[in-house]
Parts: sequence; C-alpha cells; structure tokens
Amino acid sequence: MKGIILAGGSGTRLHPSTLSVSKQLLPVYDKPMIYYPLSTLMLAGVNEILIISNPEFINSYQNLLGDGSTWGMRFEYVSQQKPRGLADAFILGEDFVENKPVSMILGDNILYGSTLVEKLQDATKIEKGAIVFAYQVKDPERFGIVEFDQNHKAISLEEKPKKPKSNYAIPGVYFYDGNVSTYAKSLKPSHRGEIEITDLNRIYLELDQLDVKVLGRGVAWLDAGTPEALLQAANFIQAVQDRQGFKISCPEEIALRMKFINRNQFKDIIKQCKNPDYKKYLEVLLHQEY
Ligand code: TTP
Repeated sequence: MKGIILAGGSGTRLHPSTLSVSKQLLPVYDKPMIYYPLSTLMLAGVNEILIISNPEFINSYQNLLGDGSTWGMRFEYVSQQKPRGLADAFILGEDFVENKPVSMILGDNILYGSTLVEKLQDATKIEKGAIVFAYQVKDPERFGIVEFDQNHKAISLEEKPKKPKSNYAIPGVYFYDGNVSTYAKSLKPSHRGEIEITDLNRIYLELDQLDVKVLGRGVAWLDAGTPEALLQAANFIQAVQDRQGFKISCPEEIALRMKFINRNQFKDIIKQCKNPDYKKYLEVLLHQEY
C-alpha cells in the first residue's frame, strides 16, 4: 500500500516559529517532526510515500528526504497552493493514488505504543471502505469526534463539535479504498472554508463502510501543533528514549527492521552519518540479531 503525509497547513498556532519554517520540520527532541509520522507509515509496511507541503517549503522536504532510495523507499512530492483542508490530500494525490487503497497521516501526529503496529499493518490490508481509529481525549471539542452505539458501532461523526457526543477523537491516520479521490472531489468546503476529512469519513459511514477501531490507553497519540504540545512531545520522546536506549521513530532502524534495506545498505547509511551519537546508535543496532 502507498501512503500520503500531509505536511502543509498554516501552522498559525506556532507562529512566529513557523513563519519561515514548515511546522513539520521543527525538531521534536532529536529529529524533525515528520520523521514520526513517516516512521508510523513505515512500520505499517508502507514504502511508497507522497509528501504534500506548501510551495515555499517543498524543497526543504526534498533536501531532507530525497527520493527515499537510501531507506529502500520511494518518495514523491506535491505542493498544496493553499491549506484547503485535509481531504485535499486525495485530490492533490489522485495520480499517486491511482484508484487503489491508500493510507494518509498528518505530518504533526505522533503515535507510539505496542499494539499500534499490528493494528496499522492489519489496516493496510483494506480492500473496500475506510478504516479510522478512535482515541479517548479530555478535550473532544478540538477534534473530529465519533459517536458509538451500544454495540461499539460508529453512528455519527462531527468536526470540532461545541457539544461533543463522545470523548472519542479520530487521530490523524486513515486508510481508504480506491474510491477516496472520487469521494474527496465531491466534497463542498465547510463553514471553515476547508474540505473536511470528517465529511469524507461520513461518506463511508453512510455507505456503512467505515470501520472505526479503538486505540486503547496503552497507545500514545500526541500532536505537536502548539508550543505546549511540541514541548510535551519532545519531553515524552526524550524520557522514553533515555530510559530504554531505543530511539522512537528512527527511520534508518525501521528501514532495516522492515527489510526495506539490507545490512550492507545500512552500513552505507552509518558511513554517511555525521552525528557521533546517532552513528553510535546505528552501529549498536547493526550488531544486534534480527
Ligand atoms: P491543523 O493542525 O488543523 O492546521 P495547521 O497545521 O495549519 O495549524 P494551525 O491550526 O496552527 O494554523 O492541520 C493538521 C495537519 O494537516 C498539519 O500537519 C498540517 C496539515 N494540513 C495540510 O497539510 N493542509 C491543509 O490544507 C490543512 C488544513 C492541514
């Protein structure tokens, strides 16, 4: 399955930090923000990825990530002229999607947890319909919200409701069948002037083709869109990494573990690495058994 990373937007809540830098290139502790959603897709088994960002920043992503071949992947890039909404990903990405199932992740969403990878890998097997996730939050007014009936079946979706019908928010990682670009093109802008992913998901809900899987409390879902959230995310990554000695969302490591690259390609990456600490981490991995 292919994947899309949506790394545009206005980033107004992080102004002035994001006036001349793309939000998803800001560091979250020891690596650029986009490494986290990129790693999430890689762990799901996705190795062909379309990166979407604003015209003024797209070169920075190309400079950072290149064509993906170093990590055994393939990256394509498309500019989004204006932040028209999350569902725009499937209109801009129509040629990339080729009417086949596709995944999409928001470039500022960080997901971490032991049960997550299995759930994501299962979702990549989708042939018909859509799969999204639900995650309990304290402040549901800020998110797309899903309401369930007694049988845990999704019955309604609302975008940033004033009076939320549940505390289950939909995190920014989504899986769709090959109809997604056609449905996205049929959407009308909301009162916010955006084509909303919640409206796209509602199309699948009304067709009875929306599967909502609950992510339990063992999974961490962070976004890094405000100064507080960015600092909290960095502290979380630092605390876990420092305790375990494992890096969270190290694409080189994941490329090796997922067998996108072999050990010789990994050795080449180590040779190129100029940060002594990062290099040491990769060297240790090389001597572990896989
Ligand atoms: P948001 O957090 O909703 O918006 P934003 O990033 O523009 O920030 P702010 O609200 O502070 O102005 O966007 C969620 C993610 O989707 C984020 O990674 C940016 C991305 N995005 C796009 O790439 N294109 C878009 O049209 C929109 C609306 C968001």
